[in-house]
This record gives sequence, C-alpha cells and structure tokens, in this order.
Amino acid sequence: MSARDVAQPEGFTLTENASLRERNTLRVDAHAAVFAEIHDDGAIPDLLDHPALRGQPTMLLGEGSNVLFTGDFDGVILGMKTRGVEELDGDAAATRIRVAAGEHWDDFVRWTLAQGHAGLENLILIPGSVGAAPMQNIGAYGVEAGEFIESVEAFDLRERRPVAFANAQCQFGYRDSVFKRNPDRWLITAITLRLPREHAPRIEYAGVRDELQRLGIEHPAPIHVADAVVNLRTRKLPDPKVIGNAGSFFKNPLIPAAQAETLLADNPHLPCWPTADGNAKLSAAWLIEACGFKGAREGDAGISNRHALVLVNHGHASGAQLWAFAQRVREGVRERFGVTLEPEPRVIGGF
Ligand code: FAD
Ligand code: EPU
Repeated sequence: MSARDVAQPEGFTLTENASLRERNTLRVDAHAAVFAEIHDDGAIPDLLDHPALRGQPTMLLGEGSNVLFTGDFDGVILGMKTRGVEELDGDAAATRIRVAAGEHWDDFVRWTLAQGHAGLENLILIPGSVGAAPMQNIGAYGVEAGEFIESVEAFDLRERRPVAFANAQCQFGYRDSVFKRNPDRWLITAITLRLPREHAPRIEYAGVRDELQRLGIEHPAPIHVADAVVNLRTRKLPDPKVIGNAGSFFKNPLIPAAQAETLLADNPHLPCWPTADGNAKLSAAWLIEACGFKGAREGDAGISNRHALVLVNHGHASGAQLWAFAQRVREGVRERFGVTLEPEPRVIGGF
C-alpha cells in the first residue's frame, strides 16, 4: 500500500502508511501506520481527538537522527514542524531566546552566532530538531545544551495540557533528562535559552585548541570556535547524507572509579575521564576499536571506519540487522572488558 494523505485539518497533516526512510538518518526502510506533522501548537488538542489516533500507540519523532527503528511502528508518530525564533526581554547578564521545536538545531545555532550571541558555538553541526535537544541534553566539545536552557515548554500527552519545565526540573545529565527517562509523555513544543552576554570561549576539549592554532587564531571569538568544531566534526564523523548513521551509537560508559583503575592497569591507553560524582567515564570508541570492530561489517550493517562509535548502514540494512550487529559489538566489549555499553539512540521495538 502506498502512503496516503488523509483529510488535512488546520494545523496538522496526517499521512497513512508513511515511509520513515527519509525520516531517520540510519536510512532504515520502516513504515508508520500514521504520521502526523504538527504545524501549530494550538492544533495539538484537536489532533489528539482525531479518530486516527483513537486507541493507537503514539511516539514522538524529530528529524530521526537519534533513533533506530527495528521494524515498522504500528501506531501514530507525531512530529513537530513548528517554526519561529523570538528574542524575549533579557537582563544585564543574558539574552533570552525562545525557539520553536520544529526548527533545525544547527540553523538555530548559526542564527545565534550571526546575531552576535555566544554560548552555543561548541554545539554547531549537531543534526536534529530543537525539540529533541533537551531530550538527551545534546552535548559536544565540552558543552551541553542544558547549560543554556532556561525552560522547556511541552504538551503533556497523558494529562492533555500544556506544561513548562524550569531548568532544574529537566534533570539534565550526560545524555540524559527527565524527558529521556519518560519518552512519549511530553511533546516538547519550544525551549527558551539564556545566552550570557559575557562568555569565555570553551576550548579545553581535546583537539579544539590545536585546530584553532592550525587556523591561525590566537584570541578566538565564538565564530572561530564554531569553525574549529565544524572542522573537527567533519573530519571525524561520517556524514549521514553520504552513509546512514545516528552519530554515536553507544554512550560513553560511566563506571565506578575502582573498576576503572583495574581496567587502566591492564589497558594504560584507555581514555578515561573522572566525573564530578567521583566515578569514571570511559571512551566507548576506544573499547570498540580495541575489540577489532572499527570498519567491520556484516552485510550492510557495520561500524564506521572513521569512528568506532558510529553504527552505519552501508545501503539496505534493515533495522533488525543493524540492531543485531550493534548487539554483537556490545557482547564483544562486555566479554573482553566486562563493561556494558548502553545505546545512545532510542531503539524502537528492540530494547
Ligand atoms: P529524533 O532522532 O527524531 O528523536 C530522538 C528522541 O527525541 C526520541 O526519543 C524522540 O521520541 C524524542 N523527540 C524528538 N522530538 C521530540 C519532541 N518535540 N518532544 C519530545 N520528544 C521528542 N548528539 C549529541 O548529543 N552530540 C553530538 O555531537 C551528536 N552528533 C551527532 C552526529 C551525527 C552525524 C548524528 C547523525 C547524530 C548526532 N547526535 C549527536 C545525535 C542527534 O543529533 C541528537 O540526539 C538530536 O538531538 C536528535 O534530534 P532529532 O530531531 O533527530 O531527534
Ligand atoms: N577514539 C578511538 N577510536 C575512534 C574514535 C575515537 O579510540 O575511532 C577515542 C580516541 O582516544 C578519542 C576518544 O575516543 O580521543 C574520544 O573521541 P571523540 O572526541 O570523537 O569523542 P567521543 O567520546 O567518541 C563524544 C560524543 C559525541 C561528541 C564528541 C565530541 C558520546 C556518546 N559521544 O564522542 O557525540 O560529538 O564526544 O564532544 O558522548 C553523539 O552523541 O551522537 C555524538 C557524536
């Protein structure tokens, strides 16, 4: 059966038997029974009352850059397509900006930089939507989005009402938040950020300082840090437009300091960072590469030969094949190092 658009009421569109292939960056060829695109926050209550949603399971999707569909989704997928960026009243310390969930994160970061606002430069070139950014508290090059998020607006799908979360209520952690722990409960509709007027560049993450030096920059402005991060990311990570992937497929594991010490005694080159709570964070990429998986493949499912943390679809791997390969990698690391890797993307139907 081919995709079919059904009646198009104001504020949202519905497509039956919708292909997800262009809606997930791992390029898995799955389908959703119904796909609902929301163009206006005000239409959410009407959408929830629509007969197509009655009794159906629902899930939320942004740009699909952090999901693995292991099969079809036999229910309704809701996607925020709302647009809009607005400068709110700020104060002496910070500019405040409200941005709609359907905006593309990287476009938004570039817009802030063009307006002369500092803060988000290390988070340039992360794929996906603004609405998904609080979900796993996106982070890169020593900075996390949660540091700048003042509040998150959402529609509570259980209680059927709009709600707002102050920063502390979001419970941001490493690739973690209250939203990630309760998927599909709150449909995030907008976020408000506080971007400090005085901002020191954050260039301590490995490689950033060297890249700035390579660019001949001594006193980096935010735009220079952004350029350095773009160069590093482009060199290290495969482009989903060229080869299907969802960025890091596993989180860097957090383990007790004593276990890390034992591992380091046998593997002195294993990158290991102390965490604020006295534990240790290990490089999952290093563990995977040490097990020989970098560049390995089985059919069209594999691990990138550019970065060991990136699961790739070489062409026509199904979600189930990608998931099976990821589990092989996880088993290999567990057997050799006694460390259990947790997937970073949401695995739909398989976990
Ligand atoms: P999706 O993949 O569509 O969804 C991800 C999760 O968010 C799902 O659970 C979904 O249900 C939920 N969700 C989506 N929209 C909403 C909403 N409006 N309300 C509530 N829940 C919602 N991530 C990093 O943190 N740092 C990186 O450096 C990084 N680099 C990447 C590089 C590449 C090449 C790729 C492909 C991915 C990378 N990622 C990175 C992962 C990804 O970009 C982020 O997780 C991004 O925030 C996902 O956005 P999305 O719109 O594609 O979300
Ligand atoms: N490494 C290897 N082999 C590889 C790649 C890396 O051994 O193939 C080792 C190297 O020692 C390197 C270390 O891993 O120094 C760290 O590598 P990198 O700087 O690329 O960072 P990462 O820990 O692999 C994390 C995030 C990325 C984020 C970068 C930069 C997670 C799970 N991943 O990767 O986020 O862009 O840091 O901050 O925390 C994502 O979440 O999808 C993502 C891409």
